[in-house]
Amino acid sequence: MAELGIASEQPLKIALAKGRLLEQIIPLLESVGMAPAAADIQSRKLILPGPNGCQFLIIRAADVCTFVERGAADIGIVGRDLLLEARPNVYEPLDLGIGRCRLCVAAPADRPDPMALPAGSALKVATKYDHLAASFFQQRGVQAEIIHLYGSMELAPLVAMADCIVDLVETGGTLRANGLAEFATLFDISSRLIVNPASYALRKERIQPLIEQLRSAVEEQT
Ligand code: PRP
Repeated sequence: MAELGIASEQPLKIALAKGRLLEQIIPLLESVGMAPAAADIQSRKLILPGPNGCQFLIIRAADVCTFVERGAADIGIVGRDLLLEARPNVYEPLDLGIGRCRLCVAAPADRPDPMALPAGSALKVATKYDHLAASFFQQRGVQAEIIHLYGSMELAPLVAMADCIVDLVETGGTLRANGLAEFATLFDISSRLIVNPASYALRKERIQPLIEQLRSAVEEQT
């Protein structure tokens, strides 16, 4: 029991992804009184203090699953795309309904539909979602050579490095600006709350009310 007592005194660590999603996460956290201070968000600090002794870890979106799975953070907010790709061992109690977009196959609009290729065809696919893209094309009998990139995926077909891309599309603006079009949707995406299973077991009295507060806030916004 003494160990449980010590665990409950530690700050609740919440991993947040830097970047455009943070702009949508902060108002949601503010609505439940759990947001970092605006001045801290603008700073280069990576650990930000929060109310009720919580701490926010500001990290790259692709690293949120790792921090939560390893228990370095108790809770995280991450896109469903990254959960599907990494399949971390975490508890996923809540769809936050923000960061809505879709994971798509896109290719130059003036080229043949990559989804209309006969089975057995070969295709070069640029993506950061290696497993999801490989599985998608394998199920369709297409031999996909996966070219892993970290960003600016849309460039790859324009310089003939890939035939198509598998990437997130939100407004479609980036595709249009680069003469690409969507040809298939793999998954609809939104941001999810994730929890380290051991943290949840040890700190349920702290974590469950936060989940319920966020659930209510999400329901009010929809
Ligand atoms: C994401 C994604 C697309 C773009 C889609 O990239 O990879 O490139 O946003 O958004 P849109 O449909 O509204 O144009 P991001 O801007 O996050 O940068 P990245 O290329 O470094 O991943």
